[in-house]
Amino acid sequence: GKIPPFENHPFVDFTKKFERDAFPRAIKEVREQLGKTYPLIINGEEVLTEDKLTSVNPANPDEVIGHICQASVKEIDQAISAARDAFPAWRDLSPEERAKYLFKAADYARKNIYHLSAWQILEVGKQWDQAHADVSEAIDFLEYYAREMIRLGNPRKMGRAPGELNHLFYQPKGIAAVIAPWNFPLAISCGMTSAALVAGNCVLYKPAGTSAVVGYTLAKIYEAAGIPKGVFNYVPGRGSVIGDYLVEHPDISLIAFTGSMEVGLRIIEKAAKVQTGQEQVKKVIAEMGGKNAIIIDDDADLDEAIIHIIYSAFGFQGQKCSACSRVIVLESIYDRFVKRLVAAAKSIAIGPAEDPHYYMGPVIDANAQKKISEYVELAKKEGNILLIRDDIPEKGYYVPLTIVENITPEHRLAQEEIFGPVLAIMKVKNLDQAIEWANSTRFALTGGIFSRSPRHLERARKEFRVGNLYLNRGITGALVERQPFGGFKMSGVGSKAGGPDYLLQFMDPRCVTENT
Ligand code: SER
Repeated sequence: GKIPPFENHPFVDFTKKFERDAFPRAIKEVREQLGKTYPLIINGEEVLTEDKLTSVNPANPDEVIGHICQASVKEIDQAISAARDAFPAWRDLSPEERAKYLFKAADYARKNIYHLSAWQILEVGKQWDQAHADVSEAIDFLEYYAREMIRLGNPRKMGRAPGELNHLFYQPKGIAAVIAPWNFPLAISCGMTSAALVAGNCVLYKPAGTSAVVGYTLAKIYEAAGIPKGVFNYVPGRGSVIGDYLVEHPDISLIAFTGSMEVGLRIIEKAAKVQTGQEQVKKVIAEMGGKNAIIIDDDADLDEAIIHIIYSAFGFQGQKCSACSRVIVLESIYDRFVKRLVAAAKSIAIGPAEDPHYYMGPVIDANAQKKISEYVELAKKEGNILLIRDDIPEKGYYVPLTIVENITPEHRLAQEEIFGPVLAIMKVKNLDQAIEWANSTRFALTGGIFSRSPRHLERARKEFRVGNLYLNRGITGALVERQPFGGFKMSGVGSKAGGPDYLLQFMDPRCVTENT
């Protein structure tokens, strides 16, 4: 039948009783399944390994989510060989046929949205609404990229010269390694893998260790959609054991990565070196960090600004590459703003994500807890502490929500991505200085401004140079198609996820000219 136009999956609506009831029920049912051992999936077969990694609930590390088998280079070789065998048939399907698999995958995810959310609530500590939004984003990627591939799949006639016929079209690059983060454990994994798949590539998918069970739910989604064996392979493993091997393997043509700048730059460097037997230049798509700022102009609507800043800075504990980690405030509104921000931050309830009473939960693991705590110590040295919420649960990987002022661009608090609930406040004289400071980091991912002045909004549009700029709203939660997402400078290379250029990166263009 005819494919209806793309629409974003709706947000969860807690005024509806069935949605309110669905979460505790799904959490309970998922909890009954905790503690299993998860195999790799290679060529459609379950593969068990000796080495296993244990994934735990960050709000209660005694609660084991699952034990995940870990690939060694041997299993990576097996998966690459399976992908190589599966590739020609998958490549030669029509774009419509490949898109059908994505539509089926989306159907399965829609039917299972509460369970898929519950796995995230327990494995990464994501709040109900945000876990639901993550699954919705995964569904959106499937629906959107399927349509995008159909759009791009028709060979395009080029030029109008008589006596010749020119067709431009695309072919997949080959085998893609998808290296995914834990913070949007289904959405970003699904976005990168579904783009690679629908474009006709075969995939080795390596989820993050701390969200590898959610990663397994993605493998189950593709299995339910009937993706042929070998086309999608689930290969969790330790970065230190298989990371470089996967990136450097001569048969990998494409690496899609989302994560830290350090790891992203390492991948780019490793992928640039041509290995024996390698037949093509590797393509790297890397979405990396941010040090995102919101500017508060002197006439900003503070009722709006405070709510949005709290959500952008502390939603999911600040663990989003899009999160707000700097607020740049004009001095004439500074005292009023800071007083209200601190009062709002004091009212935030901190506790496990499975209880919807809590706005903020634990961070992902003990390493994150330690690293963020070090930044809290640094904040005490570099600036003036406005708030440290150390009234947090003792058990679990919690860190204090922290707000620090008197930060200027030379400070590390103004330059380094913290990936936690630590917010730096910077006081400026005027909008010129605000924009200059906003742009004064290596990153260029998201940014925002609250202002009532059309002239100032216009200046921000032109001069506040980030991938995703938001005027008078929060700076997280980009939606597929509506806000194609991604940055530049050290925030990444490659075009925006959920946007019209994204799939092109997974393919090579060809042109055929016939003399007629
Ligand atoms: N797309 C997410 C957001 O906009 C970040 O990855 O918040």
